[in-house]
Amino acid sequence: MDGVGDRFQKDTKYQRGSLPGGSLDFSTRPKQYKEYAGAQRIALDPPKPRLIAPLDLCIRTRRSVRRFASKTVSFQDLSYLAWATGGIQRIEGNHPFRTAPSAGALYPIETYLVVKNAEKVPPGLYHYFPLEHSLELMKDGDFSSHATRAALDQNMCMSAAVTFFFTAVWERSKWKYKQRAYRYIYLDAGHMGQNLALAAAGLGLGTCAIGAIYDEEADALLQLDSEEEGTIMMVVAGYPVKDGR
Ligand SMILES: Cc1cc2nc3c(=O)[nH]c(=O)nc-3n(C[C@H](O)[C@H](O)[C@H](O)COP(=O)(O)O)c2cc1C
Repeated sequence: MDGVGDRFQKDTKYQRGSLPGGSLDFSTRPKQYKEYAGAQRIALDPPKPRLIAPLDLCIRTRRSVRRFASKTVSFQDLSYLAWATGGIQRIEGNHPFRTAPSAGALYPIETYLVVKNAEKVPPGLYHYFPLEHSLELMKDGDFSSHATRAALDQNMCMSAAVTFFFTAVWERSKWKYKQRAYRYIYLDAGHMGQNLALAAAGLGLGTCAIGAIYDEEADALLQLDSEEEGTIMMVVAGYPVKDGR
């Protein structure tokens, strides 16, 4: 029990009587949103009810899909997936809350999309901007082979209509939770991933989470400063081919 993971688990335990105290310094609070000023934007379709299956069926039928048909994902479906994953769901006391829960409502996870085959959204690398429910174009072109390479050469990114990338802006959560933030950040991303998986299932789409990532290659594709923000999960989505496991 002396690997870095073991030490992390031990050193970030909360123990009765020795909880870290202190009040939050709002003057040092990191920016809550990332925005690509000047980027071309695509306003997504407002999130109307779309699912063709009840939640019970989504839970029963979701399974990882790794081979996809070359069928275009509709603009409404892509819009819905982005919203279900990281979109704003309600405002309480001026604070926008999102579809997936987040420790302390700090929302450290950013969502990027490598779009390959979607209606009205040309192939490219996009950043999802929750406040506007829009996609910001970072680079146009087909980056599915880059996504494949970043995912330990897993081919599913080649046939996926869309590959989602979840990154963590570490400081957004560390500002409050210090080193324990790392536990919460990964849990946050998992919640978003499951929202995405179930929403996709409800639209007749398949997904597969990807944790096997060449971290630096993914960060380079997304043009991140890895010290500040790092890729932690990818999720491919698209129409499954028959028996596309
Ligand atoms: C955090 C996480 C990381 C995963 N990484 C990969 C991956 O890199 N490649 C892959 O093929 N599947 C990956 N999966 C999918 C699992 O292999 C899959 O969920 C598991 O086999 C159970 O099958 P099911 O999703 O069809 O129920 C991952 C799943 C999770 C939750």
